[in-house]
Amino acid sequence: MIESSDIRMTRISLNHGTGHIPALGFGTLIPDAALTISATKDALAAGFRHFDSAERYKNEREVGEALQAGLAASGLAREDIFVTTKLWNTNHRPERVEPACEASLERLRLDYLDLYLIHTPFAFQPGDDQDPRDQNGNVLYDRDVTLLDTWKAMESLVDHGKCRAIGLSDVSLDEVRPIYESARIKPAVVQVESHPYLPETELLEFCKQRGIVFLAFAPLGHGAKPGPLEDPVIAAIAARIGKTPAQVMLAWAVQRGTALLTTPRTAARAQENFNISALPQDALDEINQIQTRQRLNEVVKTGVPGFIPQSKGVGT
Ligand SMILES: NC(=O)c1ccc[n+]([C@@H]2O[C@H](COP(=O)([O-])OP(=O)(O)OC[C@H]3O[C@@H](n4cnc5c(N)ncnc54)[C@H](OP(=O)(O)O)[C@@H]3O)[C@@H](O)[C@H]2O)c1
Repeated sequence: MIESSDIRMTRISLNHGTGHIPALGFGTLIPDAALTISATKDALAAGFRHFDSAERYKNEREVGEALQAGLAASGLAREDIFVTTKLWNTNHRPERVEPACEASLERLRLDYLDLYLIHTPFAFQPGDDQDPRDQNGNVLYDRDVTLLDTWKAMESLVDHGKCRAIGLSDVSLDEVRPIYESARIKPAVVQVESHPYLPETELLEFCKQRGIVFLAFAPLGHGAKPGPLEDPVIAAIAARIGKTPAQVMLAWAVQRGTALLTTPRTAARAQENFNISALPQDALDEINQIQTRQRLNEVVKTGVPGFIPQSKGVGT
């Protein structure tokens, strides 16, 4: 990890690829096209240099448009940002992997990805329908392809220069371990839900010991109410140090050695979520002692997208 006295600049080394991933990442899971464009530009202007997208979000074109315009407006180069996208479940068959990656690159207006992730370990029936179901509404899984088959096709993408690093998402230790052991190119990143109510400590330790970056999605608990953003321990720390609860949770995530993805939708929120500063050790200890547990997204269990409806319902 490249630590800095300014934790906003924290970057974490990748075990392959050409460099580092900025710890503070912006996620583009935003269903509205116009909002995707404005929020992505706002995030870049606020200082975010790490952008997470996915074929499944159906807005890679808007993300690509916003990044191209944002880079031009700010005088930044492609190499100044870190861009990730993800292979969807319907493209797990090895022969579908490179065409899916190329289609994402075209939509994002890029000629390489910094990181390409297998979105979930669940293979769905191949085809254009991202959510294939039988007449009873049950997901049609593809039993003829293994996660290792797909991983080997991902390794070829690195060989072919389509992406600099590859990784996994929505996985448990049971899935990461065998891929790590069999892989020619080890996973560089594992993206999973994580926040003070879901610290995933065992997976984090596994990743740290092997130089895999643990990338937390929903670090604010997806803004769910009730949820960790409203936790009294977080609120008390925020009041004590003159920061917002969101800033406290994002700083905690960076200081425990994870990268994160947050989704501010306005310029003010983007500035708030980027302008974090280091928490004192006693605050970190208090957050680590929170006992409440809450998983907000069940995708890890079935591969089917979606946050558990709280105050709102959204996709993966
Ligand atoms: N691998 C996967 O399967 C997977 C699944 C889910 C997400 N992801 C990725 O992770 C990213 C982040 O996930 P997420 O959207 O759940 O992140 P999040 O930042 O934990 O939650 C975003 C929600 O928090 C609220 N929020 C943002 N900043 C706030 C602040 N300063 N104060 C109070 N509330 C705030 C927003 O509310 P408003 O609605 O009011 O703006 C938004 O609804 C996604 O965009 C996506 O890239 C990946």
